[in-house]
Amino acid sequence: MAGALHRSLAGPAVEILARYPEGRQRSAVMPLLRLAQEQDGYITEAAVEEIGGIVGLSSAEVVAVASFYTLFHLKPKGRHVISVCQNIACTMAGAEEIIEALEQELGIGSEGETTPDGAFTLERAECLATCEIAPCIQIDHDAMVKVTPASALALLEELRSVPSPDGPGAAPRWAAPRQASDPRSA
Ligand code: FES
Repeated sequence: MAGALHRSLAGPAVEILARYPEGRQRSAVMPLLRLAQEQDGYITEAAVEEIGGIVGLSSAEVVAVASFYTLFHLKPKGRHVISVCQNIACTMAGAEEIIEALEQELGIGSEGETTPDGAFTLERAECLATCEIAPCIQIDHDAMVKVTPASALALLEELRSVPSPDGPGAAPRWAAPRQASDPRSA
């Protein structure tokens, strides 16, 4: 990710740091990470260095914070991020079949890989907190429940049919959680 574009945080950092009492400004690492991701699409190496310099942390410490939270991305993501829950309830309800169907359709693996056109990232997730209506997937920030391989592919088609503006995370928003409809049962 060296050389990736990064917009300076120096301006907004002044206002963000002012929210914290003297001596507590390391806590600003979180809003600065969030801002960097909003601006650059993901947390670039340049952003890590700049944030570390602003709040007085090493780059390793900034990366440690960013990598703890799944909402922060340390490498580029597709416009749509599909996360399939691989925890026990979803696995027992067929999550692996969903992952296999999506891997085949997208032509990528499920360990955070992104399609060459930058449209989709496919990843495995831990419990998405809707275990009772498993299996569950999350598309960008929206939960889909009782998903089947066929309904997952139908969701994919739905995403493909909606022209997305440029930029990570740009996606049609659904009321969550939404039950994915299986075209075979229509
Ligand atoms: S195990 Fe999948 S949502 Fe909890």
